[in-house]
Amino acid sequence: MRKPIIISVVNHKGGCLKTTLTVNLAAALAREGKKVLAIDLDAQQNLTASLIGPVASVDGVPTLFDALVDETGLDHLITETTTKGLDVIPVTEEFAGADLSLVSAVGRESIMKGCLKQTTRLDEYDFVFIDNPPSISLVVMNSLVASDYFLVPCSADYLPMVGLSLLGDSIAKIRRLAPHLQSLGVVLTLYSRNERICRQVENMLRTKLNENLFESKIRVNTKAKSAPSVKKTIFDYEKSEKGRGTEDYTALAEEALVRLDEREGGFRKVANG
Ligand SMILES: Nc1ncnc2c1ncn2[C@@H]1O[C@H](COP(=O)(O)OP(=O)(O)OP(=O)(O)O)[C@@H](O)[C@H]1O
Ligand SMILES: [Mg+2]
Repeated sequence: MRKPIIISVVNHKGGCLKTTLTVNLAAALAREGKKVLAIDLDAQQNLTASLIGPVASVDGVPTLFDALVDETGLDHLITETTTKGLDVIPVTEEFAGADLSLVSAVGRESIMKGCLKQTTRLDEYDFVFIDNPPSISLVVMNSLVASDYFLVPCSADYLPMVGLSLLGDSIAKIRRLAPHLQSLGVVLTLYSRNERICRQVENMLRTKLNENLFESKIRVNTKAKSAPSVKKTIFDYEKSEKGRGTEDYTALAEEALVRLDEREGGFRKVANG
């Protein structure tokens, strides 16, 4: 069994819950007793801020940007969060220049893969999640090439749904560099059962994607907006198994584990020893 399973959370459309889903799906798996590492590859620092607060770069202290430029391992960047079993690799603002720095590197789409290969602590983890910026950039290509799976959050709205085919085309272009990369699926987010368009988009995607569309959906939830401001996952913020976000992300984690179990051939049996 491969360990860890590396999952890129991607969508070039902004605001479709890439970061929120990465934080809370990672936390849901950690609650299930898995060891999870979340990596922030977006210079907006949203994942970093949500989990441990913004991190400023300090002279002489190497950052994720330096690791990518120098093509080194990432062990020194691993930071614990308040959620047991969930660690993070934070990003700092200068990562905004990563695409420019990567452009002239040899094997420029595979640099992140090389960094992860050199990260000796990586095999401590069951899962690595990579949160990506809202773009189809060299950084995102690096994330995909380094990953076993990609997971696509998509707002339950017409225009984001239309954008999915462009994402599919871009991923197809890097197939040569990532022949192992598989789709874990598409998750509908910002779903509201009372809105007709949400139900319509769900029906259209169900027809188009079949089982590639997760049954679990992430519903609109105002608590999810507030949780990052106090550096809490939805589980710590809602503090109730009946919380809307707690229910949604627990169900999503369960479904993701079943999918991975099928794809990885008895993942759960092996992972649980
Ligand atoms: N369930 C929810 N219901 C309503 N709003 C939410 C929910 N979850 C998160 N949000 C809010 O939606 C906004 C976008 O979420 P998020 O930052 O996770 O998206 P993103 O895809 O990572 O954005 P970007 O493309 O900028 O990286 C944030 O302000 C967040 O607080
Ligand atoms: Mg984000």
